[in-house]
Amino acid sequence: MIGIGLQFTLGEEPNMEYRPLGRTGWKVSEVSFGAWAIGGSWGHVSDEDGLASLNQAIDCGVNFIDTADVYGNGRSERLIAQVKRSRKEQIIVATKAGRRLPKQVTEGYTRANLTAWVEDSLRNLSVDSLDLLQLHCPPTEVYYRPEVFGILDDLVKAGRIRYYGVSLEKVEEALKAIEFPGVQSVQVIFNCFRQRPAELLFAQAKQKQVGILARVPLASGLLTGKLRPDSAFASDDHRNFNRYGNAFDLGETFSGVDYETGLAAAEEIRSLLPKGMSMSQFALKWILMFDAVSCAIPGGKTPAQVSENCDASAKPALSRETMAAVQRLYEQKIRPLVHHRW
Ligand SMILES: NC(=O)c1ccc[n+]([C@@H]2O[C@H](COP(=O)([O-])OP(=O)(O)OC[C@H]3O[C@@H](n4cnc5c(N)ncnc54)[C@H](OP(=O)(O)O)[C@@H]3O)[C@@H](O)[C@H]2O)c1
Repeated sequence: MIGIGLQFTLGEEPNMEYRPLGRTGWKVSEVSFGAWAIGGSWGHVSDEDGLASLNQAIDCGVNFIDTADVYGNGRSERLIAQVKRSRKEQIIVATKAGRRLPKQVTEGYTRANLTAWVEDSLRNLSVDSLDLLQLHCPPTEVYYRPEVFGILDDLVKAGRIRYYGVSLEKVEEALKAIEFPGVQSVQVIFNCFRQRPAELLFAQAKQKQVGILARVPLASGLLTGKLRPDSAFASDDHRNFNRYGNAFDLGETFSGVDYETGLAAAEEIRSLLPKGMSMSQFALKWILMFDAVSCAIPGGKTPAQVSENCDASAKPALSRETMAAVQRLYEQKIRPLVHHRW
């Protein structure tokens, strides 16, 4: 399968399904890989584990990796570059820019800053052109500044980036972002505990052929079913230091659901599991039931986590009754906490 606009052939694995991403011509693994945890902010993850997790993902047919310049201050990007050098498969890397600003202000999204951030990522990733550059949760006002998107268009023309997209917090930001014709992808929190994107955004994104990257698909681990009321997190794990939104948007940690409520709701999901499906696989399959989604990008710190997550692709579709049960759970227990915040 030839990727239009990317001069290479993307391989496919039999146990992984692939979906189109925007108008790029790429078909990306529907379970892809989120490389935040192997960079930082999730407690200690050794280089060895990070590299092994990336290699496992590629072995499972993952051909799309999401990262950012700030994940471990370039560490995540550099580990990805290292793995890419050692593999023959063609891997698409989506990175992000914007969070290097000392303070998130619209005025920071200048040509000089964007160009410098792109150059840093090019160096970290050891490439001549970034496959996909995403604005990294900029202030809402940025979506009302067409000149910022004009700068991205210029970076495409200059060959420094192939395509661009946005990663954002709020559905309304996404609706505005996809008005810009160059936007190929929207990365948004979407999972059993964060359902609002499916209401309006997905139909409009499909109509405009904009890809959806579903991030935080496991609600930072809540939906894996392994967490307990007394689970402890390292001081440099955002599930410790950002549990109340002290460092960045509260929605990025446990999807913005308060921990005890999330644990109880996850237990209710456990009772819905089809035979042969783990909690993590269920959470990912639920996301993949929405055809507007190009891929889910679960984070993974070990090869075992990664292969369990990738196996979700080959699991059978969830039944109508199961989807309705998750919907009811969301409406009753979760919606009041999150629906109108993001
Ligand atoms: N602003 C943004 O643009 C932004 C923000 C957040 C995330 N993202 C992207 O989205 C990706 C995914 O989101 P996320 O990493 O925040 O959260 P997530 O995918 O919901 O959760 C990932 C974490 O869950 C645990 N886990 C993963 N698979 C597991 C399994 N099979 N069994 C048990 N535990 C498992 C791991 O942590 P433990 O083992 O420590 O529990 C892992 O780090 C990120 O890596 C990043 O690429 C972007």
